[in-house]
Amino acid sequence: MIDRETVQRILDAADIVEVVSDYVTLKRSGASYIGLCPFHNERTPSFSVSRAKGLCKCFSCGKGGSPVNFLMELEQISYTEALKRLAKKYNIEVKERELTDAERQQASERESLFAVNDFALNYFEHNLTDTDDGRDIGLSYFRERGINDWAIKRFRLGYSLPKGDALYRAATAKGFNEKYLFDTGLCAKTEEGRVYDRFRGRVIYPIFTTSGRVVAFGGRILQAKKEGVGKYVNSPESAIYHKSVEVYGLYQARQAIAKKDRCIMVEGYMDVISMHQSGIENVVASSGTSLTEGQIHKIKLITRNLTVIYDSDAAGIKASLRGINLLLAAGMNVKVVLLPEGDDPDSFAQHHSSSEVEEYIEKNSQDFIAFKTDILLKGVSNDPIARANVITDVIESIALIPDPITRNVYIQECANRLGMSEKLIVQQCDKLITARRDKEALKQAKEAAARTLQGLDQIQDTATQTQEIATKSESTEQDDAIFLAKFERAVLRYALKYGAVEIGDEAYDQEGNPMSITVIDYILGDLEGDGLAITTPLYARAINMAAQLLITEWPAARDRSEERIEQERREMWDRGVAEIRDSGCSVADIDRREKELQARCDEMVAQARDEVAQHFIEKQLASCDDDEIRRLTTDLVSDRYQLSKIHTKHAHIETEEERLYSLVERAVYELKDAVLECQQRSIRRKIKDLCSQEGYNPSEVLALMQENKRVTEIKAEFAKFLGERIVAPRR
Ligand code: CTP
Ligand code: MN
Repeated sequence: MIDRETVQRILDAADIVEVVSDYVTLKRSGASYIGLCPFHNERTPSFSVSRAKGLCKCFSCGKGGSPVNFLMELEQISYTEALKRLAKKYNIEVKERELTDAERQQASERESLFAVNDFALNYFEHNLTDTDDGRDIGLSYFRERGINDWAIKRFRLGYSLPKGDALYRAATAKGFNEKYLFDTGLCAKTEEGRVYDRFRGRVIYPIFTTSGRVVAFGGRILQAKKEGVGKYVNSPESAIYHKSVEVYGLYQARQAIAKKDRCIMVEGYMDVISMHQSGIENVVASSGTSLTEGQIHKIKLITRNLTVIYDSDAAGIKASLRGINLLLAAGMNVKVVLLPEGDDPDSFAQHHSSSEVEEYIEKNSQDFIAFKTDILLKGVSNDPIARANVITDVIESIALIPDPITRNVYIQECANRLGMSEKLIVQQCDKLITARRDKEALKQAKEAAARTLQGLDQIQDTATQTQEIATKSESTEQDDAIFLAKFERAVLRYALKYGAVEIGDEAYDQEGNPMSITVIDYILGDLEGDGLAITTPLYARAINMAAQLLITEWPAARDRSEERIEQERREMWDRGVAEIRDSGCSVADIDRREKELQARCDEMVAQARDEVAQHFIEKQLASCDDDEIRRLTTDLVSDRYQLSKIHTKHAHIETEEERLYSLVERAVYELKDAVLECQQRSIRRKIKDLCSQEGYNPSEVLALMQENKRVTEIKAEFAKFLGERIVAPRR
């Protein structure tokens, strides 16, 4: 909703050091600044901020990024919201598209819902401790269940008076519009039109967002069981409450989760509270329902390690296995703990000390393979078909793990546990992955087609073509893709890090003048010349965006900086000339010193230009509104093992550029070499396939062999080239 020009102004103005300093005390350390990471608890500083790069990054937990990204992650706010905060900080007027009346009303309505919830929160809390009814009924209930004052305060537990509409009266008396009481679901109307409080006569468990705003409540009846009355009543969905993205206890558990780098997942409100009370604070609840992707995402922002605790007798374990699959697919590392028979986390925490609970969890954590096979194999005994089904089920879970290395670890574990050959499991996994990828590709093709093409038949065509290609692909092509991606990433790093920098090429234009070319143009041109392109979709998107920026934004940005640099040069020159004049030296000296001054000015200009060019692309992409690109850029350019200083203070620009040139040249060659390698692998696969068929045609194989030889020869050329150009090791 903010126009492009303003966005650019905000991004230009935002100074990473200033922005981070609002949260972190920074100390100078060489060219950058360093401080304690605001994303996790630490004692020795590993949060590094570079003004020149416009980036910050924690070398321990990896979080950080551009000013926008930093604010988004730290404050858990949207892209637009982060931009607005920066605008405010730098007094930039945000020319936002005028909100329509409907939108404005929507925004203020959300605030009204929060306000009424906040009122109810305090009201319920007050009832619990400061009214006779509350103390006699609500508070004594919590006491009976062993909940202490600390926990009551921390989770802001409350009590809703049994009187039918006490909250309604209190809130409207305070001037709250009844509309919001109904919209939040705090109050409702009977068919006869009588108003009542939804939570009347229940103890209250408020539900907070990660940033601590109250969005909903859960209310529990006090009796053990009551016919026809649900044990819990929860707030309905509203403009501010979406059940599927809130995680009970996350607000209170946030810091402990970050500190321990692990989240413990239990089922219910009481489980969370009792665990916290016993001193284990990295605990949250799924609130009875199965986990959703939205909930997992919230947790994943803090940690990737998750332990799920199950009651041993929970009937729902099998049903909850699906939740584990979601976790695996999200790239979480999942452990499972089964409690002793008859216990739930609540009772277990109430009856054991925190060190006992911790020890139990430690000792009884199983990885999901062990857990799943145990659960599924129970009662299957020796029925071979049922056993095969279990195995398939487990392999399906393994195939969901996105990281190939982690996946491999589990494949080994699975092989050991089920006494199967690793190769077989790998094959099975690859098949599933390929099938899933194909399905995904098909879906994407359909979506893309639906977006860009008109007419149903065209959509159909594209989809079928993709399906044809997809079904033909073999499992090991997946490995090749991963292999290639590594080299593409190396090339991409130069494109994003030095994209706008001009490198001296040995090329000449038609008049014979040496031509300079930007790193990005060099990379894209060189690949294109060989009919190649970056194939990993995210990387392709990134380099295309970078190339686009070079065309659309770079010239204006360069002009802007050119003005500034020219002014600096003029000031430097004037100062220098004044100095020479005042020094009263001889005419010959003046001449010599002016020449020196000229050279110094030129060097300053060249360095300043280089500096601007060097950070242009990364600054843009590290602040763009595409989540994946932003993260990728941050990762690539802040890699501290990379040669970060092409720029040494007094060295000549020329030699630096030469070095950059040879580095980029090498990376591109290595990528091309990798492409050839993959071609070769594919040829070999084809040969193998052919030979395994009966009565194959030998001349076909011969043709493939020749093709193979040709590729081998080109590769040898490359090897020679790569061998001759030894560049200082990059790691
Ligand atoms: N739940 C719910 N509605 C119900 C039952 C359960 O919303 N009718 C949700 C609640 O979030 C609850 C969780 O599922 O916390 C787990 O249910 P359960 O284990 O029955 O509740 P506990 O929190 O353990 O509550 P208590 O120990 O007080 O019975
Ligand atoms: Mn319980």
